[in-house]
Amino acid sequence: MTLLDGKKTSADIKEEIALEVSELKRREQKTPHLAAVIVGNDGASLTYVNAKVKACERVGFESTLIRLPENTTEDDLLNEINILNIDKDVDGFIVQLPLPKHIDEQKILMAVDPDKDVDGFHPTNVGKMALNLPTFISATPSGILELLDRYNVETSGKNVVVLGRSHIVGSPMSILLSQKRKVGNATVTLCHSRTKNLAEITKTADIIVAALGIPEFLKADMVKDNVTVIDVGITRVADSNKKSGFRLVGDVDFEGVSKKAAFITPVPGGVGPMTIAMLLKNTLLACSRKF
Ligand code: GUN
Repeated sequence: MTLLDGKKTSADIKEEIALEVSELKRREQKTPHLAAVIVGNDGASLTYVNAKVKACERVGFESTLIRLPENTTEDDLLNEINILNIDKDVDGFIVQLPLPKHIDEQKILMAVDPDKDVDGFHPTNVGKMALNLPTFISATPSGILELLDRYNVETSGKNVVVLGRSHIVGSPMSILLSQKRKVGNATVTLCHSRTKNLAEITKTADIIVAALGIPEFLKADMVKDNVTVIDVGITRVADSNKKSGFRLVGDVDFEGVSKKAAFITPVPGGVGPMTIAMLLKNTLLACSRKF
């Protein structure tokens, strides 16, 4: 079994980005600038956003964190987005999800200038992605493609099963892996909460991407030998033995499934760090306008 080490791979990518940043600074006197907007005080979201901002500093980007209170109105947030859209100093920005219930997420995502949409969530960019045109590919699916690529996991002609149809992971992942691209050309089955005989389907998979948000959902008896497993789940489960009071649990029963797997991502240290590295890559792309 080979561990797909996202922590190490993302460190490699960040080193490559840092080199490109110093080149960009020297050649064009440009410094990539990522801004992140977060509404409210959700602990997990704050942790993720802070990790993104810290990663910017590490690779030599400028970063701006905009923290807005939980009771921010939709209009206030739209106003903030407009300011970022016209700010020539900001190359790309993200609005951390989920947003408070009183704000229409789709309306917010549609207000972001597609040229600054480094999360790749704007319908224009989702459409381009679906048509296999150059654009910002959202960070989690693109991080998974990058991880498979760097570990030389063959996807062409393989049976891939994606668990979960979220707009952020499951849906784009199923599209990308079925496309004619370097890491792609797979036969993809997208499973969700209404899927019947799920274990029968997962047992046919050469590669499984688990993105349902149900801790330890995928068990050893649901997979075949030598499967490749990508665990996108990251749920906080109370654990009094931990200083933080919780531990992070993926969608895969790692203990059992890893015994049958050829390749598997750990949680934490798998997909999570890759997501941050790919967000930085998209920001670099936005700054150098390379597509
Ligand atoms: N919430 C969970 N994942 C993401 C992500 O990739 N981007 C943003 N903006 N919010 C998220």
